[in-house]
Amino acid sequence: LVLILDFGSQYTHLITRRIRALNVFSLCISGTSTLQSIAELNPSAIILSGGPHSVHAEGAPCFSPELIHYVESKNIPVLGICYGLQLIVQKLGGEVKVAGKHEYGRMEIEVAKADGLFGNKKVGAKQSVWMSHGDEAVRLPEGFEVVARSNQGAVAAIENRARGFYGLQYHPEVTHSPEGMDTLKYFLFDICEISASWKMQDILDEELKVIKSKVGPNDLVICGLSGGVDSTVAATLVHKAIGDRLHCLFVDNGLLRWRERERVMETFERDLHLPVTCVDASEKFLSRLKGVTEPEKKRKIIGEEFINIFDSFGQELKQKYGKEPVYLVQGTLYPDVIESCPPPGSGSTHSHTIKSHHNVGGLPKNMKLKLIEPLKLLFKDEVRELGKIMGVPEGFLKRHPFPGPGLAVRVPGDVTLGNHLDTLRKADEIFIQSIKDAGIYDNIWQAFAVFLPVLTVGVQGDQRTYSHAIALRAVTSHDGMTADWYDFDHKFLAELSTRICNEVVGVNRVLMDITSKPPSTIEWE
Ligand code: XMP
Repeated sequence: LVLILDFGSQYTHLITRRIRALNVFSLCISGTSTLQSIAELNPSAIILSGGPHSVHAEGAPCFSPELIHYVESKNIPVLGICYGLQLIVQKLGGEVKVAGKHEYGRMEIEVAKADGLFGNKKVGAKQSVWMSHGDEAVRLPEGFEVVARSNQGAVAAIENRARGFYGLQYHPEVTHSPEGMDTLKYFLFDICEISASWKMQDILDEELKVIKSKVGPNDLVICGLSGGVDSTVAATLVHKAIGDRLHCLFVDNGLLRWRERERVMETFERDLHLPVTCVDASEKFLSRLKGVTEPEKKRKIIGEEFINIFDSFGQELKQKYGKEPVYLVQGTLYPDVIESCPPPGSGSTHSHTIKSHHNVGGLPKNMKLKLIEPLKLLFKDEVRELGKIMGVPEGFLKRHPFPGPGLAVRVPGDVTLGNHLDTLRKADEIFIQSIKDAGIYDNIWQAFAVFLPVLTVGVQGDQRTYSHAIALRAVTSHDGMTADWYDFDHKFLAELSTRICNEVVGVNRVLMDITSKPPSTIEWE
């Protein structure tokens, strides 16, 4: 295990992922974690991440003071990246100062000593790297030497091989440092002598073992399937471990896309053989949403109804089997559980709390169910890989995200008026099919139509019309936290707009949403 101690860099997750991509398991925990929690993980190497702080600032985060003794006594190599390098220099007796010249962006460095971090590269070899720092190491601690310098003469890489400390002032993990991955490989495979043996099959085997030993032979386990990738992969995994002691629930809340229920049930039953109860609760949800226009209120009602339905499902199982469910399966992913060093001034200890409102309704406060979260160490692309080796159809694994409150957040205002939901479903289906036919579905993070409850004048077949408008939204994004709008070919858009107006009754105008996030959010509500 390679342990990344996070000091708040925007690239920390990237380091974790890059190392996993080299078939070495890596985990990321807060840089200020106690020595005990680090030792429990028994790492073979430690990487100190970058961060937005200056080592001189009051309250600048630092590793546990006992860490130095621990890594030296256990021969665990440590690599500091950017702020991580500066911490090593400062804590081992060197000096870090505000740099005379800041180094931001692409810079050139020259290898001063090959071997070690630069493997078989030659002394004097130049490489392009990505720098982003305002402080610099001006005096190295005793026993350290400079192994690369920037073309401005600043320290770019250091090492003390005897003590096992290494440092890079630049970011080897970003693609703007094209040879950065070589340096990570030299560190992991030559310096730390770690073997590249971690595979997704190992994760699967390990999770199956854990679930089998955790769930008792008579325990019932429940899982809410949303039709999304995460809950489907989590349920498939748990089903592999405990068979039909797993009971899944899929709720049709009346806010699903065109033929969504049929499509996902087909995958659950035909392809994955999951034991799923499908509840049609559309009338219940829609009757509670009647007349409700305020977005947060809509979300709250939908969340509450989901929990009510879940409760009744538990009661039904109790009547049938004479006992209550013990476990609840959740498709929580690693980015949601990583406890990172807070960005300066945020006052928060978790950098991901912003997402909490997205777990529709959240979990009931006094929940008796214990959680099984088999994906909680994985990133989204790894979940897809895991799904693939368990036989989840590839088309399903690549589906765009769909929000828990469904189409309710894509019809501003009262969703129950007229045929608004049906009109939206038809326009959305044409949009998505056209994107698939054009072969660009996988280039887009999310694409969908939005129903606009405004009436505008048009002319169709020589007749005056007074109908609704549809907005199309398509964005690219890495994690949904920020997003950019997708730039379609104009001919594609022209054909799409003609099709929607011709084929969807009640629509005479098509608009394109060209806003990024921020300032907009991806969904309209
Ligand atoms: P926003 O609209 O906040 O969305 O920019 C970011 C991402 O989150 C999805 N989203 C949700 N997902 N429950 C979910 O499961 C929700 O309540 C919810 N709201 C937004 C959205 O589709 C996008 O991918």
